[in-house]
Amino acid sequence: MEMRNLYPNEVPPMDLLLLADPSEELVKAYLERGACIVAELHGQIIGVYVLLELTAEAVEIVNVAVAEPYQGKGLGKRLVNHAIDHARSQGYVTIEIGTGNSGIGQLALYQKCGFRITTIDQDFFTRNYPEAIYENGIQCRDMIRLSQTIGIK
Ligand code: COA
Repeated sequence: MEMRNLYPNEVPPMDLLLLADPSEELVKAYLERGACIVAELHGQIIGVYVLLELTAEAVEIVNVAVAEPYQGKGLGKRLVNHAIDHARSQGYVTIEIGTGNSGIGQLALYQKCGFRITTIDQDFFTRNYPEAIYENGIQCRDMIRLSQTIGIK
């Protein structure tokens, strides 16, 4: 499996990106502002994340997603760790990630990759998404923000 940047004229793997965020509008906005990294296996894109610069010192991982048949095999962890190493090699000091209050698996994954919860943006999802989102039988309402220090100022 190869991890690489999306080629300049390559079509982004929208189906995969929409697994992580149901808003095509938001996904497109992230793609315009961020770097899209894909995991490719035998010519097929099976994983993706977008790395977005927040400030000169901080980046955020957005839209991390793994194709359904490949979930639960460690690829999500590889993508998140790849994002951390990539951001560190570019000199960023802090890396952030956000997920919904209902994303139990995502919260487990991010904490296993070294992230700690910093803040909660209450009602982020109810404010920003027209349809109610449910996951694990829980309504997704609040954005849990996590971060970790990856370098020295
Ligand atoms: N409790 C405890 N640990 C859990 C868990 C739970 N409910 N659910 C997942 N985990 C752990 C796994 O055990 C694993 O840890 P381990 O390696 O120590 O065993 C880790 O979280 C992640 O496993 P991994 O196989 O790397 O994850 P994945 O390849 O399935 O990718 C996602 C994770 C979230 C990227 C993937 O499920 C996905 O694409 N989901 C849809 C899109 C999405 O929701 N993206 C995130 C937006 S915030």
